[in-house]
Amino acid sequence: MLKIKVSSLKPGVTLGKDLFSYDSKLLLSKGTIITQEQLDSLRMRRIDDVFIMDSKTIVKSGRQFEDVYGDSLDVVKSFMLGAKLGKPLEFDEISAVTDLLLEQVFEASDLFRQMRLMKEKDDYLFTHSVNVALLCILVGRWLKCNHEILKELGQAGLLHDIGKVFVDDSILNKPDKLTETEFNEVKKHTLLGYNFLTQYEWISSNITNSALMHHERADGSGYPMGTKGYSKNLYVSVVAVADVYDAVTSDRVYSSKRSPYTAAEILWQESFGKLDPRISKVFYDKITNFYVGNEVLLSNDEIGIVIYVDPSQPTRPIVMVGDDFYNLATDRSITIMEIID
Ligand SMILES: [Fe+2]
Ligand SMILES: [Fe+2]
Repeated sequence: MLKIKVSSLKPGVTLGKDLFSYDSKLLLSKGTIITQEQLDSLRMRRIDDVFIMDSKTIVKSGRQFEDVYGDSLDVVKSFMLGAKLGKPLEFDEISAVTDLLLEQVFEASDLFRQMRLMKEKDDYLFTHSVNVALLCILVGRWLKCNHEILKELGQAGLLHDIGKVFVDDSILNKPDKLTETEFNEVKKHTLLGYNFLTQYEWISSNITNSALMHHERADGSGYPMGTKGYSKNLYVSVVAVADVYDAVTSDRVYSSKRSPYTAAEILWQESFGKLDPRISKVFYDKITNFYVGNEVLLSNDEIGIVIYVDPSQPTRPIVMVGDDFYNLATDRSITIMEIID
């Protein structure tokens, strides 16, 4: 079952729950196949959301990314807060959200743009889970994975940090630097997430291992085990890279967001000894190309347009400012601070 906005419904969708008016009168019963007239009536009554049977009944065409993102965020919030209160995870919910997100990941340039616009929308943990799921699917597509793998990658991303709901909120949202004891508490989210997810037979070991291992680093500096060497599991490696990318480009309680160029440079540096270079290299090469034509703010406070990306140094493009050009590959004193558009 999935909660979706009435504005994105089309006739033919099956209602998943009885629907009541604001004064508690039954409007439509569970199982009703909604007609155009009923849809008009719901809109007139200003009913915003309804529960529908499953993702296959959602009319797939014409939905805006923003709506899909908003619906996915609602579901993620409800199952994460539910897990905190001891409510079991529902296969249908997780599967439906991943299906929805899978439909969105076709145009990578649009995806990055939309993700940037959506970032301020909600709590970091929820948007981060949706973003990492989207990024995992995107990387999977770049690696030409089949539909089944893409779906599992999306679920691995969606659930990788679920253990954080079992960590004290005051530590997770602390604006200052964490003490060692507090950081040790945060680190437990990997094991807590793994233990929570392994209760469910329908959750694969690729997904449970991603929750457990996404903070391990090849040089042994990661946690919870400090395992050395690159993971042999594709899912773990993809989630780890997507996780770093989203964390670096987001505003966090203790650090402000950095540009996708900085994120790409960090991914690249981390490739040597930390993140799986087979994944971070693909990421590094691909993402920087999406910003050709974008307006950027430079570290000298000038605004310019990215006009050329040199494949050998993708994070240091040529930027046009008025009639002048900066080649950031040779002019190392200037960096891109932010992407405007
Ligand atoms: Fe994590
Ligand atoms: Fe994460």
